[in-house]
Amino acid sequence: MAWRGHFQTREKAPTDLVTDADLAAQGAIREVIAARFPEHAFVGEEQPSGKRSFGDQQLVWIVDPLDGTTNYVHGYPCYAVSVALARGGKPLLGVIYDPVAEECFVAVHGQGAWCNGTRIQTSGITKLAAALVSISLPPQVGRDSPDLLDFIEVVQVCQGVRRTGSAALNLAYVARGQLDAVWANLINPWDVAAGVLMVREAGGVVTARGGDEFDLWNPPFLATSSAQLHEALMRVLTPYRRPPGDA
Ligand code: IPD
Ligand code: CA
Ligand code: CA
Repeated sequence: MAWRGHFQTREKAPTDLVTDADLAAQGAIREVIAARFPEHAFVGEEQPSGKRSFGDQQLVWIVDPLDGTTNYVHGYPCYAVSVALARGGKPLLGVIYDPVAEECFVAVHGQGAWCNGTRIQTSGITKLAAALVSISLPPQVGRDSPDLLDFIEVVQVCQGVRRTGSAALNLAYVARGQLDAVWANLINPWDVAAGVLMVREAGGVVTARGGDEFDLWNPPFLATSSAQLHEALMRVLTPYRRPPGDA
């Protein structure tokens, strides 16, 4: 927050922004973790060459130092820090902090999810017609992108469709019952590692975007407030296709 008003911005790729605040936040988080847990691995968005395969017992921190950078750059209040700890591809701990709303979402595997210390749970909504859903668009969106095709399908059958610009907050809001579903066709582990655990620990359902078991290292996903809504959305969303060149 201290960088607001005087940060530099550059494009990593067209419309994919990074600011001084992203880099400073990642540096600060990395320093805290390295000092306390020097034997743990670290994967952060702003260190793209980082390793992505780890032994089953290795504890790995997965960090998006600023999720919603485009919102941050424009002063639009929907961005967050996302920090997760995982082992064997399973998130054990997830924290999503929204510094504007001063809301700290925490999830611990097998124990539940909280916002600022108060237990949270998904809405439990089961019907598409009652569901407020959010789509997650990648930085570049083509006319025939799967996300836009999905949007056309769901906007006709759901109560409403939003696009917040922060995948981490989308998932936190599903966990708290303010949104009922969110999915992404193109997304990275640091965007969702904490949020996926948050939704599950709040009573929701998360699978891979195609319906199989969610895979943290190949993370297109569908997260919903209930199993019934998950089934209903799987019938409406376009069949999942791996992006060209994806192994
Ligand atoms: C982006 C946001 C956005 C999502 C994009 C992400 P960033 O992360 O989470 O909501 O749709 O796919 O890249 O670049 O602001 O950290
Ligand atoms: Ca992100
Ligand atoms: Ca980011």
